[in-house]
Amino acid sequence: MRLTQLAHDILGQYLHPGHLAIDATTGNGHDCCFLARQVGSKGRVFAFDIQRQALQSTTRYLQEQGLAAQVQLFHSGHQQMRNKLPADTHGKIQAVLFNLGYLPHGDKSTVTTAATTLPALQQARELLCPEGIISILAYRGHPGGKEEACAVEQQLRKPAPDKLQLSRFESPGPVLFVLAPDKHD
Ligand SMILES: C[S@@+](CC[C@H](N)C(=O)[O-])C[C@H]1O[C@@H](n2cnc3c(N)ncnc32)[C@H](O)[C@@H]1O
Repeated sequence: MRLTQLAHDILGQYLHPGHLAIDATTGNGHDCCFLARQVGSKGRVFAFDIQRQALQSTTRYLQEQGLAAQVQLFHSGHQQMRNKLPADTHGKIQAVLFNLGYLPHGDKSTVTTAATTLPALQQARELLCPEGIISILAYRGHPGGKEEACAVEQQLRKPAPDKLQLSRFESPGPVLFVLAPDKHD
């Protein structure tokens, strides 16, 4: 199974109608549509990308799927998520999805980097509700991708005050990290 699909399958177990979610890297909008479908018309997705082209693709895709109403797009880096999200959503986010790297069919030199991914990850963790989940899909085939994936894993393995458990799913190319509540708690 592809790791993008695995990420959706795992998040789908935690994300339900009425929930709040963040798409940290909206790209062409595939993950965003998945999140929007899960939260339904009573939920909300906050989606970030630094490229206008990505936001345009996402808008088009959301409109085609009839999902645009429940998504708020930000032309902004995900490292701004704490500032951009309404204060009353802090601590209430059920799921955050990061799909790192470059925009497929777009500019391959505009990539996510540890310098902004790590602060965004820290903020995502703080914005989460206690039973929330974070998934991070990191690609290692492009310049800087391996270093970013290693930096992400190092940060995820540091002790943190929340009780989230780290799972890691390996494939020859990408690696998927999932931080989720311990099912035995
Ligand atoms: C692999 S793509 C995302 C794919 C997307 N989730 C989808 O379903 O199509 C990675 C995206 O991250 C974006 N990106 C790069 N740096 C970013 C940052 N600091 N904040 C938010 N997005 C960023 C890129 O512009 C690119 O569109």
